Order: sequence, then structure tokens, then C-alpha cells
Amino acid sequence: MAKPPLSMKPTGWFQVAWSSEIDAGEVHRMTYFGREMVAWRGESGRLTVMDAYCEHLGAHLGYGGHVEGDVIQCPFHGWQWSHEGRNVCIPYQDRPNRGRRIHTYPVVERNESAYIWHDVEGRDPFFDVPDVFASFDDGRSADDYYPQVTMYRAGLELHPQYVLENGVDFAHFKFVHNTPIVPVFTRHDFAEPVSYVDFTITFEGEEGQSIEDVRSGVEAINGGLGVAVTKSWGMVDNRTISAITPVDDRTSDVRFMVYIGRNPGDDSPKAQDRARAFAQDVIDQFLADVHIWSHQRYSDPPALTSAENQGFTAIRKWATQFYPEDELQKGVTA
Ligand code: FES
Ligand SMILES: [Fe+2]
Repeated sequence: MAKPPLSMKPTGWFQVAWSSEIDAGEVHRMTYFGREMVAWRGESGRLTVMDAYCEHLGAHLGYGGHVEGDVIQCPFHGWQWSHEGRNVCIPYQDRPNRGRRIHTYPVVERNESAYIWHDVEGRDPFFDVPDVFASFDDGRSADDYYPQVTMYRAGLELHPQYVLENGVDFAHFKFVHNTPIVPVFTRHDFAEPVSYVDFTITFEGEEGQSIEDVRSGVEAINGGLGVAVTKSWGMVDNRTISAITPVDDRTSDVRFMVYIGRNPGDDSPKAQDRARAFAQDVIDQFLADVHIWSHQRYSDPPALTSAENQGFTAIRKWATQFYPEDELQKGVTA
């Protein structure tokens, strides 16, 4: 295990919770990017994520703060703060404090997840969170799939970039995922903050089979470093979301979600059992990667074969756009 040498304060969208963890009227505590935060849902259903400390005298809103309508009220002296982090009421003064503001984060809820936009330079979002259905634009939706099966591992010593490097790492599949043959990448598009990786892969058959005969694969869309969605074809119909969120300078929370396609007209208990078993298989494959990532020491510069060189160079160059300028200049990610 080793502290990641890459910045743990990257820019982008990062999952901080599942939507169902924060009901209307609830306040949820969390730590991401080394900051204490609260997420709270107003009675209208709107989700807010903000820094945890009250701008008055610094009470932590996650310890006794409560939602009143669509504002959060501090437990210490009752000051109320809005979705924008503005003070809207001081109970013992006739006007609020218009100057002080609690830092809030842009929030998107999608695919039953809550994502925040994190950028140390305070810029507005410059790309969108991928949607595990809509982003593939094939007319399929959550209705065509069983409910998502989730996996969560908190505080692992790994960096979001490790996960995405899987998308260029053809050589690990045989060893980590026991594929019979080495997959072939058919698309590497790292031109924009949202990048695309497609590959032909099979988990079945003989070692001797030819990749030309394989009729199955995976398409992946990476929304920056924090969120990746995948769609499979030619195998058990599944979609996945992986979401890695830095907690502090050493560790990240890992969330993974799998959807298994329904067989039209067959919702029997047996079909559901099968779907659950397939979902577990997909989770187990991801956990096999997590086992490596959470103990690896990031190698930079790495010792690559010439076949590996192009993909790794492309993804590592792409990743630099998400790191704060000053850390790049210091050479932290060089
Ligand atoms: S510390 Fe929050 S109202 Fe005083
Ligand atoms: Fe992998």
C-alpha cells in the first residue's frame, strides 16, 4: 500500500451518496476531499450538499442541524441557511447576514446516485455526469433492467485514476479476470473530458480461440476521473457504474452498481435469482480489480511494453486536465 502520488483533489463529478440514503427532511454527514460536508434534502425534495460548518460560530450542521421546509437550521443559535448557502434567518435579529455564505457544491442526482461537482478553482461544471442508460442512446432504460445491485467499500488506499487505467490495460484481463484470451480495444477516444473506451472481450471458451471469432464486448464512458458507466453486448446483458471519490489525501470511497437486463416476459423467481447471481459475478470481477488497486503503489513512470505505451500515455495525458494547476506545476502528476 502506498499513498497515491496523484492529486486527491481532482476536478469533476464524484458520487457522495445514494439518493435513497437522504430522505426529505434528513441531514447526512460525510467527508470528501478532506472537507467535512453535509447533504440535506428539503421538504420539496431538493438535495443540497454544503460544507458542514456554520458561518456564525462554527457549529457542525451534521450534529443536530435540522431541515425546516427548504432550509437547514443550525443547532447552536438557530440561524437558517438556504440551498445556495445563504443565511436567510437569524432568529434574534430582524434581518439575515447577507455577506456570509456556506460553500455549496453543484449537485446532480442520476441513476439513483447523488454526485457533486468538485473543483478547487471554483469553476462551473464543464462536462456532464454520464447516465448508465441515456448516455448510450440505444432506447433502453431502467425499466428494461432489474433494480441496481450495489457494492460499497469505504476508505480504500487508492486513487480514481487507477480504476480508469483498466480501460487501456489489456494485459490484466487474463490474470485478474481469468479471461481465456487477451481482449482487443476497438476505441480509445480521449479528446474530451468525457472519454470513450470500447473493447472486444469474452469470459468464456478456450484459450486457443481467436479474438476475431469473439462476438461480445464492453463499451465504457468515463465522465472525468470520478464516474464511469459501461454497457455490455453479446453476453449477459449488464450495465455498470463505478464511482470513486477521494476522502482525504490517502483514501477513496468506492461505489459500484450493476444492472442486469430483464428477459421480456419472464419475471419468474428463477429469472430473478439468475439475475442476482449474474450481478454478483460482475461485482466479484470488479472486486478482483479493487483488491489490486487498494494495495498497489502507483508507478510513474511505469515500465511499459511498446504495445501498452500508446494507451497508457493517452489516458495519463487525458487525466492531467482534472488536476489542479499548482500541483501539476509542482510535478505531483508529472
Ligand atoms: S454557530 Fe450556527 S447559529 Fe451559531
Ligand atoms: Fe479490471
